[in-house]
Amino acid sequence: MTSALEPFTFDPYDYRFHDDPYPTYERLRADAPLYHNPDLGFWALSRHADVITGFRDNVRLSSAMGVSLDPAAWGPHAHRTMSFLAMDDPRHVRMRRLVYKGFTPRRVNEMDARIHELTLEHLEPALERGSFDWIEDFAGKLPMDVISELMGVPASDRAEIRRLADLVVHRDEGVLDVPVPAIEAALSLITYYSEMVEARRSNPTEDLTSALLDAEIDGDRLSAEEIIGFMFLMVVAGNETTTKLLGNALYWAGRNPAEYAKVQAEPDLVPDWVEETLRYDTSSQLVARSAATDIEMHGLTIPEGAKVLLLIGSANRDSEVFDDGDTYRIDRADKGNLASFGAGVHFCLGAHLARLEATIALREFTTRVKRYGLAETGIERVHSTNVRGFAHLPVQVEVA
Ligand code: HEM
Repeated sequence: MTSALEPFTFDPYDYRFHDDPYPTYERLRADAPLYHNPDLGFWALSRHADVITGFRDNVRLSSAMGVSLDPAAWGPHAHRTMSFLAMDDPRHVRMRRLVYKGFTPRRVNEMDARIHELTLEHLEPALERGSFDWIEDFAGKLPMDVISELMGVPASDRAEIRRLADLVVHRDEGVLDVPVPAIEAALSLITYYSEMVEARRSNPTEDLTSALLDAEIDGDRLSAEEIIGFMFLMVVAGNETTTKLLGNALYWAGRNPAEYAKVQAEPDLVPDWVEETLRYDTSSQLVARSAATDIEMHGLTIPEGAKVLLLIGSANRDSEVFDDGDTYRIDRADKGNLASFGAGVHFCLGAHLARLEATIALREFTTRVKRYGLAETGIERVHSTNVRGFAHLPVQVEVA
């Protein structure tokens, strides 16, 4: 162990670490800002300044071998499921610009009214029941519906796609390799989207899939494989993270009823509720890079080719940037520079959509629900090395 922390170990696969990763992060920031775990084969940066610098240093820290921790998950084929997220420039910038032609802020903003409708469609029946599973009945449905509507996936297929997307990110305790069901689910998603792209090629519509087929810059277009990779990324990365953001928001405001009371009294605080949840317990806890060269930091040398983790969840609690970072305070004055959506050339393309969806959904919830409580039993976490949030979050609501 190169760090001075022995026998302290940072193991992102450990279910006990998932219960509460923040004491571990605190210790890393204080005692081992560059941590090396030779057994699991990674290095990790935990301080806010290092994480943000790491995101911006896309020359020495490459994305081309994939940005997840999973060993050899896809390696040089990572771009097939992670799209341009797993590419370096100039490949990355070419593809990001082409995708941006279809995935425009205008297209996202046009979803506003539809997001309201979809929110009410799922929220109202759940609220009528009084107690329900926030993830199963609401948060697991809305982002998938929104992304599916954008892409043109019919309503009848969405439950199956959600099931497959959940399987892709799930990890069994103690198993380092990507489990077979996750790989099979990924392949099923790829087959589904391949068929959809071919269908749109013959019969174009107004949806994002058709817009991506149509996108062109100086005669350059996206290939079918590139479009499928992007769709896969949206469903797995975009959908899962937004579902978990909605779950984490209700969980932490449920654990801190005085905070929910603040939003109740002042619904204009809903966007701050979203931001504080993104800071305090973000749904995308880490991304990985590989060192393109030897890198000297904190008196140690990360060797060329090594995997380097940028610990987003830790950066967002760093007391150098956020006063009293371990307190969930919706109306905090120091908004700081959140690491939650990355930084630099790979900055999240869906950040605006995620914030829009979460704000609409939580505003509708706030105007209808006076008080709510988390159930005593049945709350269940997902176990993943990077996605943080709940598979089940049963709540009881008192409607206003
Ligand atoms: C990139 C987080 C929602 C699409 C990223 C990155 C992070 C992130 C940390 C940077 C990854 C890196 O640097 O390697 C999140 C979180 C979300 C969210 C926390 C929700 C709370 C979405 C949504 C979409 C989306 C809804 C699309 C519908 C993307 C894409 C990239 C990306 C395409 C790659 C950008 C690039 O490589 O240039 N996201 N994301 N994300 N995200 Fe998101």
